[in-house]
Amino acid sequence: MTAPFRGPVTVEAKAGSFMRFMCTASTAWLAGQRPGRVLAVLLLSLSAMGSAQAQAVAKPAAAREWVTPATGDVQRGAALYQARCTACHAVDSNRIGPAHRGVMGRRIGSLPGYKYSDELAASRLRWTPQTLNVWLEDPEELVRGQRMGFQVDSAQERADLIAYLATLK
Ligand code: HEC
Repeated sequence: MTAPFRGPVTVEAKAGSFMRFMCTASTAWLAGQRPGRVLAVLLLSLSAMGSAQAQAVAKPAAAREWVTPATGDVQRGAALYQARCTACHAVDSNRIGPAHRGVMGRRIGSLPGYKYSDELAASRLRWTPQTLNVWLEDPEELVRGQRMGFQVDSAQERADLIAYLATLK
């Protein structure tokens, strides 16, 4: 009885007639039901769709691939720091941005006396060459909702800055 397989055309035709069958069947089923029951089934399937969607949203993001920056040059990093960062930061005092001494290894957003954005203060990450690299390239990518409006596009410059920050013990 099974028809020989005749390529995608046959498969599509079968899918089409299956859909038609399902429509006819469900219309027939609907016709035979009391409206209350129909509504209940409709609501049930809607909420099932809703929870499937919620699960999709709650699914944890794939683990990030941390990139270890190349070895940087401390001297160049110090010069870049002077040129780019000191508009907002200082090594030993909080200004528009927090003080940087001891930043390497420190928990993100944890320096006492500086008023961080809630987003930064809530971060559970630490400053490492990897997290600093993402932060300097695009702070928003590391901590959404943060307040530092500055980016360093060059990977080498980021590496140099990170090498310099690591010396601020
Ligand atoms: C326009 C001002 C501005 C500039 C320029 C700037 N920053 Fe920031 N930075 C901030 C602010 C504001 C924060 C705090 C962000 C928050 O609380 O969300 C911050 C936070 C940081 C932090 C987090 C420190 C901590 O204690 O968690 C690091 C690291 C940092 N900046 C590095 C740099 C470096 C390196 C440069 C130079 C390449 C730089 N920033 C340039 C404003 C700036």
